Amino acid sequence: MLLFNPTLLFEFVSPSRDSLLDDLIKVRKMLIVQISDLHVGSQFFQVKFDQLVDEVNKLNPHVIVVTGDLTNEGLMHEYERCQELLAKFNAKKIITISGNHDYRNTGYLLFKKFFPFEAINELSDDVVLVTLGTARPDRNEGEVGYRQNLWLERTMKKYKDKVKILAMHHHLIAIPDTGSDQLTVVDAGDVLRTILDTGVDLVLCGHKHRPWEWNFGKLMVVNAGTATSERVRGLFENTYNIIDISNKSIKVDLKIVGGKRIPLDDIVTNYHQFGDE
Ligand SMILES: [Fe+2]
Ligand SMILES: [Fe+2]
Repeated sequence: MLLFNPTLLFEFVSPSRDSLLDDLIKVRKMLIVQISDLHVGSQFFQVKFDQLVDEVNKLNPHVIVVTGDLTNEGLMHEYERCQELLAKFNAKKIITISGNHDYRNTGYLLFKKFFPFEAINELSDDVVLVTLGTARPDRNEGEVGYRQNLWLERTMKKYKDKVKILAMHHHLIAIPDTGSDQLTVVDAGDVLRTILDTGVDLVLCGHKHRPWEWNFGKLMVVNAGTATSERVRGLFENTYNIIDISNKSIKVDLKIVGGKRIPLDDIVTNYHQFGDE
């Protein structure tokens, strides 16, 4: 049951709007931007970042979720720089998740200090976003673990009637153009079972720097490219995702930094364009 949220009404209602009905429909809209794999450090493109900030701030999103690898080597000066850079975004809420690169050189101790975050984010009466920690010290592959998976199950079951978004760094399902991939979530089967059992609607992943989408109908698994790192893959552009939630239906677009915006579906349906034919 959708409840009335005066905060969101305040954001969207303009006195010049046509009708009360229009306004009520707008109340139920939410814009989330997913950026990933900034890799602040040696692989970082400052020019792309400046373009990214400009574009994202114009979108005026409710939430920005950064799905890991904020830094390249988990070093103090990279964290300091990254904190300054993220402060340039104007979103009402920025949710950050650590990636395997952030954990390097005991960077996991710094991540907590520079980017404290809540794992459960009730974004509106309609939408909840839950984060999972998949990075582990000195390892590139991801793991959710038995206890965190149990916690996920309990948590998601509390939000039966909401749009449920799960955000994590490592990709839950293998994606094309990633070779003989050994760096996925090692207990992906357990996590997928939880996701399906609890009716998660959308999973947001990063890590592979390859924009992609697996659309299973009720469940969509979305992978972001790298927004600002030189290590682009498959699609040779820096990209991010724009997620529009309206009346509980989810639409995901891919945005090339400094370039066009297209439905993320197009990357899948036009895959042959990027093949070797
Ligand atoms: Fe990365
Ligand atoms: Fe990664």
